Amino acid sequence: MEQFVVHGGNPLVGEVEISGAKNAALAILAAAIMTDETVVIENLPDVRDINIMLDALSDIGAHVDRIDRHTAKINGSTIRSLSVDYEYIRKIRASYYLLGALLGKFKEAEVALPGGCVIGSRPIDLHVKGFKSLGANVEISFGLISAKADKLVGNHIYMDKVSVGATINVMMAAALAEGKTIIENAAKEPHVVDVANLLNAMGANIRGAGTDVIRIVGVEKLHGAEYSVIPDQIEAGTFMCAAAATKGDILVKNVIPKHLEATSAKLIEAGCSIEEFDDAVRVVANKPLTSTSVTTLPYPGYPTDMQPQITAVLAIANGTSVVTESIFENRFKYIDELNRMGSNIQVEGNVAIVKGVEKYTGAEVCAPDLRAGAALVIAGLAAEGFTIVDDIHFIQRGYENFEVKLAGLGAEIAKVSSDKELTKFMMKVS
Ligand code: UD1
Repeated sequence: MEQFVVHGGNPLVGEVEISGAKNAALAILAAAIMTDETVVIENLPDVRDINIMLDALSDIGAHVDRIDRHTAKINGSTIRSLSVDYEYIRKIRASYYLLGALLGKFKEAEVALPGGCVIGSRPIDLHVKGFKSLGANVEISFGLISAKADKLVGNHIYMDKVSVGATINVMMAAALAEGKTIIENAAKEPHVVDVANLLNAMGANIRGAGTDVIRIVGVEKLHGAEYSVIPDQIEAGTFMCAAAATKGDILVKNVIPKHLEATSAKLIEAGCSIEEFDDAVRVVANKPLTSTSVTTLPYPGYPTDMQPQITAVLAIANGTSVVTESIFENRFKYIDELNRMGSNIQVEGNVAIVKGVEKYTGAEVCAPDLRAGAALVIAGLAAEGFTIVDDIHFIQRGYENFEVKLAGLGAEIAKVSSDKELTKFMMKVS
């Protein structure tokens, strides 16, 4: 079983290159099968969720050619199954994107109900509502969600809640529906825009992605394209928080600074300086960290996927911070682990009261999910002594070469898979 072992205390210093956005890439890979022509996707992150999605595409018959670590050539003309295997679905929630993609293209799809990180109840009623509005019959039975339509017809759809997944899923299906679809109260996240840009490059007619209202005029078919995935704002934000927690000074490269504004704003409030360049941000943490309050909200608000990482920073800031999670109700499971490292955080419902402590102390902790796992690594980097993080398969779902990139910034961290390797690392650094 692999673990990360971290010897904390080194400020992160240097430059780090950010990979493609996992969450954008997952939807983009699904959208790529909506044409019979070849679609080339570049800047794919080489992480577990992406590899699972590529396997799922192959499994239903699409031709997938991994040209190199970050590029895949996909051809959906050979798809022979409209039912996506449970084995894959169980592992990643984003497999639900195959429902929108297959329904749009073949007017029929069946996908096992999605898994992913257990960060709270994750309903799919809005996806269902959207597909039904386009004229599909949608049924959930035996752990499968199936959707079928004689034809899809555009409609006016109001999303009762801002949902990234439902917005993208409905947008994909509507791209190949007859007539005009309007999605109101749409999610505005950068990856919604990225998927719309890909679909438009494939011949779709989608306007307004990135605003509350997306207008789609259905087209008969889509064609091939070459497309590069946007940089991962959450990976970038994670490194920014790691720099803050370790009193570091890093240049985070290959990013879109606009996508990082919420994280930058909170780090500035916490006492860091942030310098923005065209495609990079520099984070300098040379003053004492101070408390602030954070509430997660849909984009452009503070991202829920960055909540654990900023909490890991605020836990060692002067004063008391309040972190409110308003998207997923079960996203504070890592707090017990963080408190085992010396933090003083109390959770009341969806609010964490973070009383800043002077320092973390190393401990053996367990990553409960992807982003919380990253937060525990951040705490380990700032801690006195050794921290061992178990269950790192969660972290590997979404961070490419996490430990390698951190080591490149001067962190003492290694991925180990045996007690022998663990002891060897500890002997080497102590
Ligand atoms: C996506 C991201 C996830 C991120 C989240 C919010 C992917 C693969 N995952 O998840 O990392 O944390 O956006 O930025 O891109 N909801 C409903 N009914 C639905 C769908 C959602 O009530 O049908 C609710 C959810 O419970 C949640 C809120 O809407 O409270 C937002 O969820 P949503 O944006 O859909 O998250 P995901 O797309 O699952």
